[in-house]
Amino acid sequence: PVPVILDCDPGHDDVFALWLLAGSPEVDLRAVTTVGGNVPLAHTSRNARIALSVAGITDVPVAAGSPGPIGRELRTAEWIHGENGLGGPELPEPGVPLDPRSAAALMADVVREAEEPVTIVATGPITNVAVFLSEHPELSDGVREIVWMGGSTDRGNATPAAEFNAWVDPEALDRVLGSGVPFTMVGLNVTHLALVDERVQARVRAIGTRTAAFGDELLEFFCATNREVFGLPDGPLHDPVAAAAVVAPALVARRPVRLDVELAGTHTVGATLADLDGILGLEPNAHVAVGLDVDGFWDLVADALARLA
Ligand code: BDR
Ligand code: CA
Repeated sequence: PVPVILDCDPGHDDVFALWLLAGSPEVDLRAVTTVGGNVPLAHTSRNARIALSVAGITDVPVAAGSPGPIGRELRTAEWIHGENGLGGPELPEPGVPLDPRSAAALMADVVREAEEPVTIVATGPITNVAVFLSEHPELSDGVREIVWMGGSTDRGNATPAAEFNAWVDPEALDRVLGSGVPFTMVGLNVTHLALVDERVQARVRAIGTRTAAFGDELLEFFCATNREVFGLPDGPLHDPVAAAAVVAPALVARRPVRLDVELAGTHTVGATLADLDGILGLEPNAHVAVGLDVDGFWDLVADALARLA
């Protein structure tokens, strides 16, 4: 199995990314690290521990990283995820402790100890990964690939131009893109295909486990806020699409492109610019996801969920 670190800001969809990785035999989830994003760091760190303990996983370390972006104030998304970041279910006390290491230190230890290069799945503002690569440039060869949910080849959701994770910490994204580590962006252009419709919800409910019941309550809340805020009939479950790109790469079509992020625009900070037509004539520095096998994706999520407690 592919050794994987998940860096996240749970967040409803982050929890499903975590469960997809934890419940898939194709990957070995070695660590979870948290960042301030959807809600402040204290909540995202607690929520990651809750997501693991609900699923019966007690052997994956969880470490907290940056409370906010590299050079900006943190902007959160309570209007989608609720005050505590996991609106909907009643939250149990987490049954797993918080690791005393920082996120970057835990990432470094996992990469150093791994017998092969490690994949990082990032589903929040990419601050922790940028910090890790800056603090440990000697370990970048130990990272096989970074697969990030964020950005978009077209529209935004935090602003008309920018997706939330990119908008919160564009400087971190810029740094990671410049690191030379293989990078895949899984943006809104594909995650908006992963819609939680009635059929998906019924399928999750039918699994009948504790984890699925908790997940069902998360989906109820998440779909309701997406309806209210974006007028979307079904909520797009963004983050597990990035996890799926690692668990079952064939499900996510991607193209090599030159990818840049806007750092200084008047109206466009955090916009991701994927040069799909090769207009700039520059060497590709990333891959971007351009298609998703939607049925295959939901099969993968359902199968992983069914393997958890
Ligand atoms: C991204 O922003 C967050 O609200 C979600 O968890 C996801 O990572 C979607 O734009
Ligand atoms: Ca997220």
